[in-house]
Amino acid sequence: MSKIIWHITMSVDGFIAGPDDSMDWAFRASEPSALADEIREGTGAILGGRRWYDAAASKYDGVAGIYGGGWSGPVFVLTHRPEDIPEDPTVTFLSEGLRDAVGTARDAAAGKNVEIFGANTAQQCLDAGPLDEIAVHLAPVLLGDGVRLYGAPAMARQIDLERTDASESGQVTDLRFRVRK
Ligand SMILES: NC(=O)c1ccc[n+]([C@@H]2O[C@H](COP(=O)([O-])OP(=O)(O)OC[C@H]3O[C@@H](n4cnc5c(N)ncnc54)[C@H](OP(=O)(O)O)[C@@H]3O)[C@@H](O)[C@H]2O)c1
Repeated sequence: MSKIIWHITMSVDGFIAGPDDSMDWAFRASEPSALADEIREGTGAILGGRRWYDAAASKYDGVAGIYGGGWSGPVFVLTHRPEDIPEDPTVTFLSEGLRDAVGTARDAAAGKNVEIFGANTAQQCLDAGPLDEIAVHLAPVLLGDGVRLYGAPAMARQIDLERTDASESGQVTDLRFRVRK
């Protein structure tokens, strides 16, 4: 059965993007990582939020920048604004609700895993239940502000995790968790 995996790089103070959606710190910290390779190779589709898409499209080469160009496949983006979507043949915008969107991405992944991009989107997946795993690359940096991993803007409920892997990639600590349901 394919899994729904949230795969992120996070600062030591718990941000997945810096001020102004900056990801430069994460690209700078990036090291060759067996965990990242395993997740990339197992991913059959990506489901992201509109904020991820807009930031990636304006600053980081959009879909072509995913894994530095080292992955290709179907990419879906959740948005409440279907009347205001850019012309971009590399993504499919969805406004059908979280559960249906996860189902659409899972079908497109054809037996492989679905990767989630965006904290808000991942939090909804945790709330609604389909998120199976969280893979975190802990980067040696304090950002001070930005997009929190979890809990913002609304309070989020407690989620218990089981750590299934811990390893090092240079200065980066790679962690993998199973979501206890
Ligand atoms: N560190 C990492 O590895 C990593 C990875 C990925 C992303 N990021 C960063 O994370 C940030 C984005 O995360 P985020 O939490 O701010 O936002 P997000 O999850 O990317 O996007 C949230 C937006 O998606 C749309 N959306 C979400 N759920 C929806 C639903 N059920 N139905 C319809 N539309 C829905 C809404 O936009 P509208 O209402 O405007 O349509 C919502 O405001 C960016 O800065 C990105 O660079 C970091």
